[in-house]
Amino acid sequence: MNILLLGSGGREHALAWKIVQSPKVEKLFIAPGNAGTEQTGINIAIPATDFAAIKDFVLSNEIHMVVVGPEDPLVKGIYDYFKNDPQLTAVPVIGPSQQGALLEGSKDFAKAFMMRHQIPTARYKSISAENLEEGYRFLEILEAPYVLKADGLAAGKGVLIIDNPEEAKRELQQMLEGMFGDASKTVVIEEFLDGIECSVFVVTDGNNYKILPVAKDYKRIGEGNTGLNTGGMGAVSPVPFADDVFMAKVEERIICPTVAGLKSEGIDYKGFIFLGLIEVKGEPMVIEYNCRMGDPETEAVMLRIQSDLVELLEGVAKGDLRERVLTEDPRTAVTVMLVSGGYPEAYEKNKVITGLETISPGSLVFHAGTKNENGQILTNGGRVIAVSSYGATKEEALARSFAGANRIHFDKKYFRSDIGFDL
Ligand code: AMP
Ligand code: GLY
Repeated sequence: MNILLLGSGGREHALAWKIVQSPKVEKLFIAPGNAGTEQTGINIAIPATDFAAIKDFVLSNEIHMVVVGPEDPLVKGIYDYFKNDPQLTAVPVIGPSQQGALLEGSKDFAKAFMMRHQIPTARYKSISAENLEEGYRFLEILEAPYVLKADGLAAGKGVLIIDNPEEAKRELQQMLEGMFGDASKTVVIEEFLDGIECSVFVVTDGNNYKILPVAKDYKRIGEGNTGLNTGGMGAVSPVPFADDVFMAKVEERIICPTVAGLKSEGIDYKGFIFLGLIEVKGEPMVIEYNCRMGDPETEAVMLRIQSDLVELLEGVAKGDLRERVLTEDPRTAVTVMLVSGGYPEAYEKNKVITGLETISPGSLVFHAGTKNENGQILTNGGRVIAVSSYGATKEEALARSFAGANRIHFDKKYFRSDIGFDL
């Protein structure tokens, strides 16, 4: 079959790498893709949110399935666009409906959903300009630090964690006044949870689900988990603390009620669910939902799926996921992200990248923010290259990725050399 994959980051390169290994796949197209995905499939110059152009492409290229990488097209309703168009309705979109994507697109919706289904999460209150005083009172009863979250999508930047109550009140007011544009017209105030985080990925056909390998992401820019939040600086899979006992609790208390809750509320959800979890004294709680795979977790998780990913995606589309096989690779997989100096604040682009071909066996180079200009690979984003590796142990996999990270060069390259340090 022919598949169209939407997106242009490291996640999409890793998905493309895994998808084309399937004997079921004839052609893989990536819209818009990057300089890495063009080595794996065929890039087409269509933005992932240009639904009309995607429609034309799907109809003229016999596309049998659309796999959505990033959240934007999902939150904008690409699933519904296909479902409601007689010419497109037979083409499955792997990803939730617009309403299902609200699990990521609205923190207020996600929290209320968790309340309705008794899914463990931090205590919260949703605040808008109309009930600001209530927000102040809630901050007064919480203990520091204070967690303020923009309700809507804010490119991963919409969460503030503040130590001082007076500052929290000021920031709350500024958020409501548009610090993150319309995304922070509603703010979710949350109790702070203290623990260690992990990312659990589930794929569902709306009735049944499969749990993909668990990963841990390193979000902060600085070593020792310090400094500003980024999209993610590296990942490790498996996660030792997410053992059978922990995962049994996750399945029973979080995954089952999430999938059943979506179904009982009549929300169409055929795609990936990303559970951002935190372990608090051995108990799992939900920090956030995302309606897609994680980046850079996917650059490690895809290495740990031994069976055919397209087989699973077909099960999602046809509603027979239960019959499909998922096997995990027992090895450890890690990824180390090479970023542009200055990221996540201002950084420069268009730096020539060299050394990409010097990667040794056991490692893979996934492109995140790159472009090909007349045969030269140039940096084209904050996160540039993900070096993923297999290893018998975490240490072995990391040694390979760090060696790869040191062999790739571009001006002002930076990476964290402590990925996995806390596991
Ligand atoms: P989110 O966008 O909701 O994933 O939040 C971004 C990051 O902020 C998370 O990965 C956590 O590290 C942190 N965070 C969010 N909510 C909380 C919370 N209630 N308690 C502690 N840390 C949190
Ligand atoms: N790595 C976190 C995310 O994809 O949101």
